[in-house]
Amino acid sequence: MALVTGITGQDGSFLAELLLDKGYRVFGVVSSDDDAGSWRIAHLEGRIELLTADLADLDSLVEAVGECRPSEVYNLAAQSFVPASWIDPLHTGNVTGLGVARMLEAVRRIDPMIRFYQASSSEMFGKVSEVPQNESTPFYPRSPYGVAKVYGHYLTVNYRESYGMFAVSGILFNHESHRRGLEFVTRKISHGVARIKHGLEDKLVLGNLDARRDWGYAPDYVEAMWLMLQGDKPRDYVIATGETHSVREFTERAFEHAGLDWKDHVEIDKALIRPAEVDLLVGDSSKARAELGWQPTVNFRELVELMVDADIDAVAEELGNRPSTQTPAST
Ligand code: NAP
Ligand code: GDD
Repeated sequence: MALVTGITGQDGSFLAELLLDKGYRVFGVVSSDDDAGSWRIAHLEGRIELLTADLADLDSLVEAVGECRPSEVYNLAAQSFVPASWIDPLHTGNVTGLGVARMLEAVRRIDPMIRFYQASSSEMFGKVSEVPQNESTPFYPRSPYGVAKVYGHYLTVNYRESYGMFAVSGILFNHESHRRGLEFVTRKISHGVARIKHGLEDKLVLGNLDARRDWGYAPDYVEAMWLMLQGDKPRDYVIATGETHSVREFTERAFEHAGLDWKDHVEIDKALIRPAEVDLLVGDSSKARAELGWQPTVNFRELVELMVDADIDAVAEELGNRPSTQTPAST
């Protein structure tokens, strides 16, 4: 039995599918009844059980963990959009940082034998001190979001060391899919390309094209989360493809795949440039590959193409007024 916070997010929806396939009874935490991401789990209705709780409210989390008494908890809920963390650093600190403390406390109080996964992030490496980044690379976060994730990361380590809990952190590099939120750059691009292809828009407005990321495919990454909780010993792992590409390269390939030239459509808005940027991320996941047997199955080109294809199909469906379960009704 497993409890997944953030089940309506990109990763939560894929993790729920994976756990169901493995025969788990799956509970998911939703923060309200009209959760914005419910379109991502609509197809799982009747197969997963939802509990209402908020990462900002300890009592609600204790109640949720106590109600289902899972053997595994995956803490995926967060305010996860980096720019929003400058707009409201207090909210991000409360949910993305202190929310981890509340989840760990809820687990410890109900049953410290529950295995706990924390969704840590390559954003913690920030201004990187070495290339590629591995489990020993020092953290230097560059956003209130990154700072909150560092807090959650070290608190998870601390609960493991203080209470002997099986609490692990997955330091996951960027992972994407057709279920990615529209505010993140890969999905903004694939969705923008699809709308341009269908003649609904002509321009796509972006920020820093020089930033480099190690982009993988989300379903591969939720498998790593599960593998981490099946180990003999609780250990933290970097999960990454080991390849890095710029936002410009992603943009170029996405337009090219749709038979378009990005230079005809992309505009830069300096307002989208961040107050402090993470310029380069590329992960060394050799520990996870050796100890967990994990490896990515989708490369950069395949990722770009599958996202563009999915959005072109989804926009076509919307134009034909056929309901789609893969994108929110508003897009
Ligand atoms: P996502 O799509 O933004 O999903 C976040 C989830 O958190 C949503 O279900 C959201 O639901 C929920 N949530 C937000 N505030 C909450 C609150 N106060 N109480 C309860 N639930 C709340 O994120 P994702 O891409 O799936 O990522 C999953 C986790 O991995 C996040 O912690 C993220 O920071 C981390 N991570 C992601 C990546 C990546 O590349 N995707 C990489 C490294 C780490 P509502 O907003 O509807 O409440
Ligand atoms: N969102 C966005 N929108 N980003 C843009 C844009 C734009 O129009 N133009 C350029 N970028 C650049 C950003 O400046 C950043 O360098 C890069 O594209 C990636 O931005 P996002 O897709 O928003 O992701 P992120 O890397 O900031 O954060 C994601 O990955 C982290 C793991 O490294 C999120 O999923 C985080 O929650 C996650 O922890």
